[in-house]
Amino acid sequence: MRVVCRIVAEVLLLVSAKAKPGVTTIELNRLAESEVVKHKAKPAFKGYSGYPYSLCCSLNDQVVHGFPVDQPLRPGDILSLDFGAYYDGFYGDAAVTVPVGDVTANAARLINVTEASLGVAIDHATCNGRLSDISNAVQCYVESHGFSVVRDFVGHGIGRKLHEAPQVPNYGEPGKGPKLKPGMVLAIEPMVNEKSYEVKVLEDGWTAVTVDGSLSAHFEHTVAITDNGPEILTRV
Ligand code: MF3
Ligand code: CO
Repeated sequence: MRVVCRIVAEVLLLVSAKAKPGVTTIELNRLAESEVVKHKAKPAFKGYSGYPYSLCCSLNDQVVHGFPVDQPLRPGDILSLDFGAYYDGFYGDAAVTVPVGDVTANAARLINVTEASLGVAIDHATCNGRLSDISNAVQCYVESHGFSVVRDFVGHGIGRKLHEAPQVPNYGEPGKGPKLKPGMVLAIEPMVNEKSYEVKVLEDGWTAVTVDGSLSAHFEHTVAITDNGPEILTRV
């Protein structure tokens, strides 16, 4: 899993660095595909439950699973990029949200709080803890900064399948769910909205957007629980 997750991290770093005004997300999708095959890996999302692309590109009020489009990014946009790969029997999964050009102070704060909430979550991915300690840590952190945590989508176990048990919600009471054990690998992925946590899925059957039109951000790492603490696998 270290191997595939490193590939995911490298592709996502390259692609996110290209997310500048004037670039289209369909170009970013093409880049992600051409890069992943250079590593002899396969894109994990393309064809998964019928998802038509390799890279999820969720712009502004889009929460997750947005489709890449042939429209140039504009200064002030925030863009969530979610990418997964398959290599030698295993999956890796990661996401980042990037500012496109200069963004408003609140958009920047949303991005920073969401990324930091993933950090807080990972700090709780330690043996002897329980699964919902991770969930609770995200919720407390995000809400203390005045934002809300999406309920309708969750993180997940990951390994020989992209989505494995257990589900990893980003909210809830601590001390519940399975005990965290060395060898478990989780894709932890807080999705944070500027205002209400309510989301809906568009007619395309995939794109999740905020109901109130407010901004949304998303960060994800694939994390292994080890005797020596959490190991972030999707890191270059
Ligand atoms: N990171 C998302 C997830 O774990 C991406 C899935 S997109 C899909 O669910 F197309 F594969 F569904
Ligand atoms: Co995921």
